[in-house]
Amino acid sequence: MKIIVTDNYEQASLEAFKVMKGVVVKKPNAVLGLATGSTPLGLYKNMIEDHKENGTSYKDVVSFNLDEYVGLPRDHKESYYTFMHTNLFSGLDILEENVHLPYGNTKEDCDAYEKAMEDYSVDVQLLGIGGNGHIGFNEPGTPFTETTHIVELQERTRVDNARFFDNDINQVPTHAITMGIATIMKAKKVLLIATGENKADAVYAMIKGEPTVDCPASALQNHPDVVVVLDKAAASKL
Ligand code: F6R
Repeated sequence: MKIIVTDNYEQASLEAFKVMKGVVVKKPNAVLGLATGSTPLGLYKNMIEDHKENGTSYKDVVSFNLDEYVGLPRDHKESYYTFMHTNLFSGLDILEENVHLPYGNTKEDCDAYEKAMEDYSVDVQLLGIGGNGHIGFNEPGTPFTETTHIVELQERTRVDNARFFDNDINQVPTHAITMGIATIMKAKKVLLIATGENKADAVYAMIKGEPTVDCPASALQNHPDVVVVLDKAAASKL
């Protein structure tokens, strides 16, 4: 794992952007694995600015998102489909037919997403990390062998995400569809960003702990090309 420790969120977003831009410039038809949540917002802002100012093009890029809530229509304001279109896709020249997000709640929906990914090889998979060490929505206890599947979200994840749902945990969906750890591990490169003190324990377990299902992100220790971008607070327990 290559670990980059920066002073703050803005710098972490900039370092992550350099990695992402490097992939897209080298390979204009790159396949990007994308994430939602608060963490990638700075990176996505940098990508949009760079596209507008320097013309970096995403017209041949293909994207696959990590996960989506079960039970929210795609046009719900907190669906990850809406999040991605609002915070990234609308600011780039990426083609709608090239963007993919998982959707649904059946085994068939999961298999269809894996099948859609089969023809591609993800060049860089962007990840955040949950306070409990989850990547995608692979909660602690998820076998590393899982592919795209339906998960029941843990209480901590729903509490963490209540901030997007009027701080009301009852509005946070109970289930999600997510790429599995085995799906994530197939990416050629992994770029994980973690900032803030509430991620420090999970970052420690990911990097210094034994690889164990108790910290899903620790699976990344077995991946040959991982870049972890941290701020000082997230790195404080290393
Ligand atoms: C989002 C995802 C999650 C988040 C994680 C951190 O697509 O898969 O694993 O990356 O929950 O969320 P934030 O960035 O909001 O702290």
